Amino acid sequence: MSKIAILGSGGWGTALAVMSEKYGHEVTLWSPFEEEIEAIRSDGENKKLLPGIKVSEKICLTNDISCACDMDLTILAVPSFAVRSTAKKLAPLLKPGQIVVNVAKGLEENSLKRMTQVIEEELPQVKTVVLSGPSHAEEVSRNVPTAIVAASKYEDAAAKVQETLMNQNFRIYVNPDVIGVEIGGSLKNVMALAAGVCDGLKLGDNTKAALMTRGITEIARLGVAMGGSAQTFAGLAGVGDLIVTCTSMHSRNRRAGIYIGEGLSAEEAIKKVGMTVEGYKTTHAAYVLSKRAGVEMPIVNECYQVLYEGKNPSKAIKDLMLREKKSEIEDLWPKQKIN
Ligand SMILES: NC(=O)c1ccc[n+]([C@@H]2O[C@H](COP(=O)([O-])OP(=O)(O)OC[C@H]3O[C@@H](n4cnc5c(N)ncnc54)[C@H](O)[C@@H]3O)[C@@H](O)[C@H]2O)c1
Repeated sequence: MSKIAILGSGGWGTALAVMSEKYGHEVTLWSPFEEEIEAIRSDGENKKLLPGIKVSEKICLTNDISCACDMDLTILAVPSFAVRSTAKKLAPLLKPGQIVVNVAKGLEENSLKRMTQVIEEELPQVKTVVLSGPSHAEEVSRNVPTAIVAASKYEDAAAKVQETLMNQNFRIYVNPDVIGVEIGGSLKNVMALAAGVCDGLKLGDNTKAALMTRGITEIARLGVAMGGSAQTFAGLAGVGDLIVTCTSMHSRNRRAGIYIGEGLSAEEAIKKVGMTVEGYKTTHAAYVLSKRAGVEMPIVNECYQVLYEGKNPSKAIKDLMLREKKSEIEDLWPKQKIN
């Protein structure tokens, strides 16, 4: 039995709390918002985000962040925009070597830093682990078999997360490639928006398969340029998460994309979804990173224009289809042979 604090009582934080408690851990679930904690306490469930999933009375519900002291695992399940401010609050509370697991999928808005970079700046004393992969809260909370990745530069910390959280319905693989796992997890949200746009435009399965396949290619291109391993993008945190998020109605990013494809502006679509749509800001981050790294990311480029410059989504698809002719596999033929 381990002591686990989960910070953020949204869909994912609640699902992880319910699962961890079910497998015998001592769980504390924190939110900065009193009304969130009160609602879960009085309803016995997270009615808004995980209706019908009982939150056991054994889970300690609190607004007091000092609950994160002396835990075996402290899991950050807040949206990426709140990771730095939450980590700042934890700075005086966490001991050297304590394990902090991040599950937020995104990049910091202005710095474009990955979440573990943000956490390590605020909490240099801790060991960070990223937990990422195809894992909808709605399914994990119903014990649907799920496989996911725990990535860390600290082998012992990744192994501890695997040991603690893995169960018969939640399989965890470890991976030392933190960069690849974080870039895969963040950028798949851009492709989910794009997949939603295709659905909103009533295009077909061919289009979405093309989008996902070419999407992971360009995500991997950026990830490798940033120091990630190409293999990670063929794994759960890469193509695995991309598939789940581009095909499922649970994905808010995809839902926002559907509204955009149907004619709403990005702002209207996000408002209609009514929850964090991480892919919106990640599209901006990916666009800037691709320019900075000199990496070609045509889908990201078109998504950026649709979301931020009001480009017509049908025109964006057409422009992608009519790009210059390419070979599918980069560097397949060495330059001198082509010429
Ligand atoms: N929902 C999923 O299925 C799922 C699965 C895997 C990863 N994730 C990732 O996990 C993160 C959280 O997802 P979610 O769906 O639970 O999000 P959410 O928006 O439902 O909830 C996040 C929770 O974080 C807390 N929070 C919100 N704003 C905050 C602030 N300003 N400061 C501190 N805390 C704040 C609140 O308790 C809120 O309920 C996201 O980055 C998401 O991409 C979600």
